[in-house]
Amino acid sequence: KSFLYKLWKGDVSSKMLNPRLQKAMKDYLSTNKHGVRFKGKRNSKLTGDQLFCELKERVNVKTIDGKEAPFSALGWEKHVPQIPLGKLYTHGFGSCAVVMSAGAILNSSLGDEIDSHDAVLRFNSAPTRGYEKDVGNKTTMRIINSQILTNPNHHFVDSSLYKDVILVAWDPAPYSANLNVWYKKPDYNLFTPYVQHRRKNPNQPFYILHPKFIWQLWDIIQENTKEKIQPNPPSSGFIGILIMMSMCNEVHVYEYIPSVRQTDLCHYHELYYDAACTLGAYHPLLYEKLLVQRMNKGLQDDLYRKGKVILPGFKAVKC
Ligand code: C5P
Repeated sequence: KSFLYKLWKGDVSSKMLNPRLQKAMKDYLSTNKHGVRFKGKRNSKLTGDQLFCELKERVNVKTIDGKEAPFSALGWEKHVPQIPLGKLYTHGFGSCAVVMSAGAILNSSLGDEIDSHDAVLRFNSAPTRGYEKDVGNKTTMRIINSQILTNPNHHFVDSSLYKDVILVAWDPAPYSANLNVWYKKPDYNLFTPYVQHRRKNPNQPFYILHPKFIWQLWDIIQENTKEKIQPNPPSSGFIGILIMMSMCNEVHVYEYIPSVRQTDLCHYHELYYDAACTLGAYHPLLYEKLLVQRMNKGLQDDLYRKGKVILPGFKAVKC
């Protein structure tokens, strides 16, 4: 059976990846750049429903609120939005779409279906203009990594991609989630452009994710995986899925688990080919996808043809 078919069934291991990706994973394990010291147990064999309830119980979407050092002393309580992310929409959203940036979404004609959701989440610099037929044109929220804020190529200050949407930024912090250490040495310094953007656009909801939230997700992925996963933060895609599960009644995820259109084309908007974009090198992406596959409530046929996974929101299910 093909790798794709095995992925749809949740029956893959890193040994099935190409040697280059396996080598990259090993190197990340030995480098352990973020100082991960996992204290839990691996390979807990939860069913999809149990895993969902574990996530619901433990995941707390936390953003920097300016109350902790060093942010408190730097006046960040005045920099961050007054309304926390979780309280922006008091009743949450009904149905939500999470649109992955994978090349496989090209020629999907999913645009109208995606736009029919109450809220649509997109990632980083993924455009809609010129791709409406396949990805839609509605954007409610964008999750951006710290490189978007710091790399001039992305024109974070000017680009319309980052206007009129809720922005949620993140940066890989040390596993200890020590905010003082992180503030002094972020992966990319998102703090300065964040404060500048907040000053210029005080009415735009714009948050920085708390490292505790990110590493909490990592712990849960590792606890539920037999192999040692890359000691690096989960991908923006997985982070986004969990944020939407906490804000929506139902979450429809597109081209995270690849459809029959699977391709090494990294992004639908960029002519760059690398299997790592879909299967992971830095991020524990393959393992994230196996957990999402385990929780999928959608039809097999929707997974094959649309690359679509359906997940209930946390409020929609009693555990
Ligand atoms: O590359 P980028 O992080 O901007 O893409 C957004 C998310 O989409 C990724 O974090 C990953 O979860 C998902 N993705 C994917 N397969 C691809 C490209 C992106 O699953 N080929």
